Amino acid sequence: MPTLIDGKATATQIKAEIAQQVEALVAAGHKRPHLAAILVGNDGGSETYVRNKVLACEACGFESTLIRFEDTVSEAELLSKIDELNHDARIDGFIVQLPLPRHIDRQKVIESIDHRKDVDGFHPINVGRLAIGLPCFISATPLGILTLLRRYGITTAGRKCVVVGRSNIVGKPMVQLMLQKEHGNATVTCVHSHTKNLTSECREADILIAAIGRPGYITADMVKPGATVIDVGTTRVPDASRPSGFRLSGDVDFESVAPVAGAITPVPGGVGPMTICMLMLNTLAAAQKTYYPD
Ligand code: GUN
Repeated sequence: MPTLIDGKATATQIKAEIAQQVEALVAAGHKRPHLAAILVGNDGGSETYVRNKVLACEACGFESTLIRFEDTVSEAELLSKIDELNHDARIDGFIVQLPLPRHIDRQKVIESIDHRKDVDGFHPINVGRLAIGLPCFISATPLGILTLLRRYGITTAGRKCVVVGRSNIVGKPMVQLMLQKEHGNATVTCVHSHTKNLTSECREADILIAAIGRPGYITADMVKPGATVIDVGTTRVPDASRPSGFRLSGDVDFESVAPVAGAITPVPGGVGPMTICMLMLNTLAAAQKTYYPD
């Protein structure tokens, strides 16, 4: 059987390392890092993510502030709160949880966040700086995946990496991160809904990263024997046997793929906990002004 890449245990370890650094900072007279999160509406998935982000702040010794709006909030009101956070010296970094209601222009919201507090790494300045190899906040899911590969001793340099999906949050920044000489240093292909011969492209991968949001899409025939398979999918599918009424399903058909893979992430407990952990690391970097010194 393949190596099971345990994102939950790795994230717990990294949060303990962050907490140690925070206590050293506080002992040296610095303030605790402070993350704010804006949550609009009551989407079940977003509620869970934001709750877990607040819990992760506690585990790391950070302060956190949760700001909630009804899903009827106007775009102007949301932008006004963002402006307030941009200028609030007590807040080191903040996020606006996505998705947003349809009447709010998501790109306008992202671009209104001060890039120096954009710990999600979604602002075009951070996206652009990643693309040309400058220091910046890097989108948490791709950063979490690269960190998992590093901590499991999986070589990326010179290897063939195939990213399935081209979203702004995961697929595109994953491609950039794996491509950069100082990060993944891999040979990278991005495949998507209009790719011809998608199965054979995936079969070329030493590292296959699935981020398309389609449960069980990656099957054993798409995986090179011994490949590392990273599953970013977290789709809620109905499951009457669970108290919640649903379970999380990955983009990889784990049962068929695991026997072929050399290493694989589970869902849940793989990429998900690492994403939140990397948000903490970005918040620590924001507090320390690592990427954008004054
Ligand atoms: N929705 C799904 N993933 C994310 C994320 O990483 N950040 C934010 N802000 N919203 C999300």
